Amino acid sequence: MSESVDTYHPGLEGVIAGETAICCVDQGRLLYRGYDIADLARHASFEECAFLLLHGELPTTEQLALFKQQIDGERELPGAVVDVLRAIPRQAPMMDVLRTGVSLCGNFSSAKSQGRSSLLTRAVRVLAAVPSLIAARLRVLDGKWPLEPKPGLSHAGQFIYMAFGREPTELEERVLNLTLVLYAEHEFNASTFAARVCTSTLSGLHSSVVAAIGTLKGPLHGGANEAALSLIEKFQSSAEARRWVEEALAHKQKIMGFGHRVYRNGDHRAFILEPYVDELARMRNEQWRAEVYHAIKETVWAKKQIHPNVDYPCGLVYHFLGFPSDIFTPLFVMARVAGWCAHIIEQHVNNRLIRPRSRYTGAPARAFVPLTER
Ligand SMILES: CC(C)(COP(=O)(O)OP(=O)(O)OC[C@H]1O[C@@H](n2cnc3c(N)ncnc32)[C@H](O)[C@@H]1OP(=O)(O)O)[C@@H](O)C(=O)NCCC(=O)NCCS
Repeated sequence: MSESVDTYHPGLEGVIAGETAICCVDQGRLLYRGYDIADLARHASFEECAFLLLHGELPTTEQLALFKQQIDGERELPGAVVDVLRAIPRQAPMMDVLRTGVSLCGNFSSAKSQGRSSLLTRAVRVLAAVPSLIAARLRVLDGKWPLEPKPGLSHAGQFIYMAFGREPTELEERVLNLTLVLYAEHEFNASTFAARVCTSTLSGLHSSVVAAIGTLKGPLHGGANEAALSLIEKFQSSAEARRWVEEALAHKQKIMGFGHRVYRNGDHRAFILEPYVDELARMRNEQWRAEVYHAIKETVWAKKQIHPNVDYPCGLVYHFLGFPSDIFTPLFVMARVAGWCAHIIEQHVNNRLIRPRSRYTGAPARAFVPLTER
């Protein structure tokens, strides 16, 4: 056996596994490249945030226009990709379809070198492809042909247009844009770390994004927004919700959309998004759902002193916007792909293979027993 490895933190909790200039997450703040998430949420479009994450600075008006033009130029999916979206069985989870779609799109990417500018070109391609893939799959499932993108719409608006075949309302576009800004980046979370591990072997950008999508799918990570809505949808009243949650917590069951590996005093993004739960519930005349939302939140706090994370309000906000629940986590991908690509580039330009050690807990060294003697 090789030398012992003494420092072990299950789940890498509290371990500093790398350096990054992209995002700072701590109890008091969440910064993208030094800008506070509250300011970005109030003032910035998703496209500005994506540019900021990828390039390190907020864009000028000209830079932003060019960036949007580049994304718009990459929105259309190759015909062969649409054929595959049509061939995948109906019941396949949307995250699996998206993982396959991004992987397939990688084969159509002509950029071969792994330099910074080539990686940026591929980042724009994947940023543009994700909403097109989700929208196209929704249309295919509906027996329709994918819509061509409509140049000039925002990233959020474009998705709504391509998915549902109508112009977005101002509210839909604004709220979807907000969630994209909030989801765009979050330091060394599990999917970003998976992308960095993949990148560190010098695999390509699309491989790293595929690794990240697979990692985000799980309900302990990105899948929590969909799981949180199905929890809320279980109940017809706050009293019913309180009873169920009390019992679940007594049985040590995890409540989806609550808790966070880093935040102990609450998730900044959940605080920003929560007012929209009440506003949209009133507009949709579904106040009872908002009451269930608050009842679950109050019960988890009373029993365990655990705050909701961003996925808790987001599930309900997406429901109020009329989005089908199996695209909630894909919409998270649509945002986080900006952060992933920024990390892939950062890892690539200052690379060291990520290869930690494990502590061995298996059988001690023993003599091999030939098959006939076992
Ligand atoms: C995100 C998450 C995986 C972080 O977990 P972690 O850092 O490993 O924290 P732990 O699982 O060790 O939890 C610590 C304690 O809080 C409890 N806890 C954490 N999240 C909880 C939740 N969502 N519901 C109920 N209890 C929870 C644990 O049961 C544990 O309690 P104990 O000390 O009495 O055993 C976890 O909070 C979770 O599973 N949340 C639900 C899924 C989710 O919303 N994910 C999205 C994250 S952005």
